Amino acid sequence: MEFLNAHILSSQQFDRKDVEKIIKVARELEPVAQKKLTSDLLRGKLLASLFYEPSTRTRLSFEAAMLRLGGKVASVVGMENSSIKKGETLYDTARIVSFYSDVVAIRYSESGSTEAFSEGATVPVINAGDGANEHPTQALTDIFTIAKERKTVDGMTIAMVGDLKYGRTVHSLARLLSRYSVKLIFVSPPQLAMPQEIKHHLQEKGVFVEETENLEDAIRRSDVLYMTRIQRERFSDEATYKRFHGVYVLTKGLVERCNPHVLLLHPLPRCGEIHPDVDALDGAGYFRQAGNGVSVRMALLSLVLGKM
Ligand code: ASP
Ligand code: CP
Repeated sequence: MEFLNAHILSSQQFDRKDVEKIIKVARELEPVAQKKLTSDLLRGKLLASLFYEPSTRTRLSFEAAMLRLGGKVASVVGMENSSIKKGETLYDTARIVSFYSDVVAIRYSESGSTEAFSEGATVPVINAGDGANEHPTQALTDIFTIAKERKTVDGMTIAMVGDLKYGRTVHSLARLLSRYSVKLIFVSPPQLAMPQEIKHHLQEKGVFVEETENLEDAIRRSDVLYMTRIQRERFSDEATYKRFHGVYVLTKGLVERCNPHVLLLHPLPRCGEIHPDVDALDGAGYFRQAGNGVSVRMALLSLVLGKM
C-alpha cells in the first residue's frame, strides 16, 4: 500500500510486505523510542490525539512517539471534554480537527466510528480502537513483539485466550496473522468465541484454526499465549460479565508445569487473568510488548506523514 496520507483503520488493509515495512521502520526508530537517541524527524508536525474511551498505553505511546520525534501534540481526553458531548458528529469533528493538525489518532466506543470520522478528515486518521471492532496499531505491536522475541512469526502456534468476542485486539491480530504461516488456537467459553466473520476470513486464507475451552492443553501446544481481559464495558449487564470474569487465570505454576518456554503476551490492562507471580518468568513479554508500542507508532506516524 501507499503509506503517504493513508488512513490506518483496519489490520485488513495491510499485506505482508506492508507489515514488514512497518517492522523495518519501527526497528530503525527503536533507539529513539528507547531514549538512546534524539530525533527531529517530525518537527513541525502536529498530532491530534482524540481519546473518547479510556486509555493508558495507546494514547501515551502515540503522544510519546510524536514528541520524541520532535513533533507536537494536541489532545482531547474523554467525551465530556469535547463538543461531541453537545451533539456534534464525528464527521464535523473531523472537518474541524483537520484544520488544526497533520495526523489524528482516535479511539471511540462504537465499531466503525473511526471510519466515519475519516470520511470528514483531510489528514491521515489512525484507528486507536473502535468499540469491539479493531485495534490495528496494537496488532502491529503484537507482531513486532513476536518477531523481536522469537526471531520469526512463521511457523508459530499462537493461542488467543479469553474474551475473543468483544476483544478488538484479537480481531485485528487474527486478521493480520493470516498474512503469515501460523496455527491459531482460540481458547474461550463458547459465548465469547471469535466472531464467525473472522473465522471465515482465516479459513479463506488457509490458516489452521482450532477452538477449545481448555487453557492447559492450549498452553502445552503453543509458542505464544495471548491473554485478554474480559471486556466488561461491552456487556449489557454486570451479572453476565461476572459469570466470565476469572474464567481463565494464568499463574507461574501453571505456565511452568505446562510449557516454561511459551511467550506470554497481553495487550493490557490485565484484570486478574495473569497473576503477578507470572511477571518473574523470562517468557512474560507483556510489559516489553507495551514498550514496543512506541517504536511501532513512531513508524506509522513517520510513514503516513511521508518522513520514512
Ligand atoms: N487495551 C486494549 C484495548 O483497548 C485491551 C483491553 O482494554 O482489554 O482494546
Ligand atoms: N493496549 C491498549 O490499548 O491499552 P490502553 O487501553 O491502555 O490504551
